[in-house]
Amino acid sequence: MTRRLFVTTALPYANGPFHIGHIMEYIQADTWVRLQRLRGHEVRFVCADDTHGAPIMIAAEKAGQTPQQFVAAVAATRKPMLDGFHIAFDHWHSTDAPENHALARSIYLALREAGLIESRAIEQFFDPAKGMFLADRFVKGECPKCGAKDQYGDNCEACGAVYQPTELKNPYSALSGATPVLRTSEHFFFRLSDPRCVEFLEAWTQDGRLQPEVANKVREWFARDESGRATLGDWDISREAPYFGIEIPDAPGKYFYVWLDAPVGYLASLQALLQSLGIDFEAYLADPALEQVHFIGKDIVTFHTLFWPAMLKFSGRKVPDFVYVHGHLTVSGEKMSKSRGTGISPARWLELGLDAEWLRYYICAKLNARVEDLDFNPEDFVARVNSDLVGKYVNIASRAAGFVGKRFGGRLSADVGVEGRALLDGLRAHAEPVFQLFDSREYGKALREVMLLADRVNEYVDRVKPWELARQPGMDAALHDACTVCLEAFRVLTIYLKPVLPALAAKVEAFLQVPPLQWADAQRSMGAHTVGAWQHLMQRVDPARVEALFEPPAAPAVPAAPLPGGEAIADEIAIGDFAKIDLRIARIVAAEAVEGSTKLLRLTLDVGEGRHRTVFSGIAAHYKPEQLAGRLTVVVANLAPRKMKFGVSEGMVLAASHADEKAEPGVYVLEPWAGAQPGQRVR
Ligand code: MSP
Ligand code: ZN
Repeated sequence: MTRRLFVTTALPYANGPFHIGHIMEYIQADTWVRLQRLRGHEVRFVCADDTHGAPIMIAAEKAGQTPQQFVAAVAATRKPMLDGFHIAFDHWHSTDAPENHALARSIYLALREAGLIESRAIEQFFDPAKGMFLADRFVKGECPKCGAKDQYGDNCEACGAVYQPTELKNPYSALSGATPVLRTSEHFFFRLSDPRCVEFLEAWTQDGRLQPEVANKVREWFARDESGRATLGDWDISREAPYFGIEIPDAPGKYFYVWLDAPVGYLASLQALLQSLGIDFEAYLADPALEQVHFIGKDIVTFHTLFWPAMLKFSGRKVPDFVYVHGHLTVSGEKMSKSRGTGISPARWLELGLDAEWLRYYICAKLNARVEDLDFNPEDFVARVNSDLVGKYVNIASRAAGFVGKRFGGRLSADVGVEGRALLDGLRAHAEPVFQLFDSREYGKALREVMLLADRVNEYVDRVKPWELARQPGMDAALHDACTVCLEAFRVLTIYLKPVLPALAAKVEAFLQVPPLQWADAQRSMGAHTVGAWQHLMQRVDPARVEALFEPPAAPAVPAAPLPGGEAIADEIAIGDFAKIDLRIARIVAAEAVEGSTKLLRLTLDVGEGRHRTVFSGIAAHYKPEQLAGRLTVVVANLAPRKMKFGVSEGMVLAASHADEKAEPGVYVLEPWAGAQPGQRVR
């Protein structure tokens, strides 16, 4: 029976180009989609940029762009990457597209109609300087459990504690540094605690459609308390303006939380695709045979196994059939950090001319159906690709193709003898088991099977030794047979590898002069067919080129991203510009707190002028006065005096910090090496 499949990957945040984790997810899904298509199934495979939310709004503001301009610039980077890695989405959309606005509103209205939306006044942190409510990750402060500084408002990276932003000690806005104040506002909630939702979700998550470890993980949401109520709580789906998102119907100034409209983007993208194909969207979804499949990473399970199915169910829509969860990709055992930009840049992979299918093969060889992390290890990568793809698979064809061309005019023999037939039958018998392994996302096992088959073929070649047959008179028929077996076997293995290696398979089809191979073609032979001239199919991986992947690019096209909390190097200046700044060694004669200021310390400095200067320095949060008195430091001695609320400041003490002074590792006053004397110039 032909399956009808609607398949998606998670929608990447439109806050930057793809990282290698995204590409990993696309490779997993694309391989599965290609497999289904090779089996003759109908697949619509879509994705989109996830454009909304506070972080993107703020990133756009920093870049001096509108959010729309900002996400459009990111969207423009998508196609070359997808093409480069042979990711064959049928359509790429945006959650800011009109289809998504309309669908998100209509789903919301249906939920409201079903009595599942409730509004409640809640207290939340508000940044008085920025004039906006602060999302959890924009409130920072000290962890209420362990006291670690500069922790985000939702959880502590030091001790792992999870809490509300209001529980932080000494909270501050990560946007402005201001102390946030509590403000009340009206929020909308999706009433997931409603017994209808609980009942539906418990059944939907526990009926065997999810991976066992995923089902187990979400089971805890259905644990009952003494009164018999499930612990599943209501979901806050609204955010206050200013917010880049979709305005909530009948609630001006309120927007859907990005996670409400993001998965709706799956449907919006599908709708746009079907529209372009002239297919009716609602009718397509109404087909009971349609299967809806989402590929996602382990970090977004709750959204896809609770919120999203409930949104669909109670707005009267089709619910997902499968949610396939993968683990995360690490690089040399290290977690990727979005901010530090470690890991491997997919753009750089392509720039360096590394073969995209090397990566596809390696990732697939490491993937299984469980939620396990997988590691990209450079040495392992080189060894695996060279030994499997080049040494085992491509080798089969290159050992035979030359003879077929030179000795037999490219023509294969019609029949191959008993041993060859047995070998080929053995290979063909694996079509179903290999398919089953791929279909159940056990890619690693599938590829191991295929490589075992390749081993069998190479053993056959070693046994019959075509290169010796070629030198012996009267052995033409045997040589012809052996080479034909090799190319027939190569063709079968190509079919098994085609979901993973589509571009290589296309090259093989061109060489064999056959139409695009389908899975069922594994059962047929080419017969007395004429193949084309042998062309080189795949290079060995040169370890030096893989190393280049980890080196910083020679000349970055765009300025390097600033370090977390840090800043890019300022514009170049001439030495004369620097000479204008008179830096002097100063002794801190006295340091004292400033009444009425939590930021400033009043420093009395000896700059070797035979008099003392007063300098106000914003370091009170970082140093106690007694830590400073008596020490040497560096001061800008020719800065115009500045009248401040607490007196005149005659200079500026130098200190190291990030632009955000609250960012780790903090603020450090400069101190010269021992021996320096007050009044000496720093040049
Ligand atoms: N925008 C949300 C998803 C909305 S879906 C309606 C999001 N975006 S993301 O860009 O952070 O992540 C997109 C996908 O990439 C997620 O499935 C996530 O799990 C996956 N990955 C992020 N880092 C990854 C790795 N290191 N390895 C593999 N997948 C990774 O979440
Ligand atoms: Zn902590």
